[in-house]
Amino acid sequence: MELIIASHNENKILEFKKKLGKKFFLKSLSDIGFKDDIPENENTIEKNAIFKSNFIYKKYNCNVFSDDTGLEIEALNSEPGVRSARYSGEEKNSLKNIKLVLKKLTGISNRNARFKTVISLIIDDKNYCFEGVVNGTIIDKPIGDMGFGYDSIFVANNMNKTFAEISIDEKNKISHRAIATNKLIDFINKKVF
Ligand code: IMP
Repeated sequence: MELIIASHNENKILEFKKKLGKKFFLKSLSDIGFKDDIPENENTIEKNAIFKSNFIYKKYNCNVFSDDTGLEIEALNSEPGVRSARYSGEEKNSLKNIKLVLKKLTGISNRNARFKTVISLIIDDKNYCFEGVVNGTIIDKPIGDMGFGYDSIFVANNMNKTFAEISIDEKNKISHRAIATNKLIDFINKKVF
C-alpha cells in the first residue's frame, strides 16, 4: 500500500522508513513534488498532526500520515510542547532551542520531561490518531551527535545515554515516535481494507 509521509524532516522520514518501509510503499513530500512548509499553527500536538495530514490529503487525495512531536518539561509548565520547533524563534534552530531550554532550567532541580508524538493517519477518508510518550530527564549540557532536535539533552528513564548517543535502530525500539508507529502498524494489521 502507498502511504505519504507528510513531513520534510529527513531524520523523521528515515526513522519512519526503517519501521514502516517493509510494509508500505512510503513516499515523502519531496517524492510527490510538494516543497512548501505545511502550516503548524494549532495549539496542541494532536491538532497540529491532524492539520498536517489533512492538508496533504485535501491536496492529493491520498493515504497519508503525519506526526507532530513536542518535548514537555515539567518545571516549565510543559514547555516547549507544541512550540518545540520554534521555541527560540521562527528559524526553527535546534541548537538555539536547546540553549533556551537549558537557560530556563538553570538552577532548577526538577528535570522531568517527556517526548510526546501524535501520529495522524488518514486512510479511506477517515482520520485515526496514535500517541507515543517517553518519560525521562533533561541533562545539563548536550551529549552525543546522533539524532536530531532535542535528542542530545534527553535521557529516557532506565537509560544512561541521551537519544543522541544511541543509533537510529536503538532509538526506533524505544522512542515516542516508535511507540506511536507501533500502534499505527497494529491498527493497519487488524484493519480490513
Ligand atoms: P515537529 O514534530 O517536526 O513539529 O517537531 C517539533 C520539534 O521537536 C522540532 O524542533 C524537532 O526537531 C523536535 N523533535 C521532533 N521529534 C524529535 C525527536 O525524536 N527527538 C528530538 N527532538 C525532536
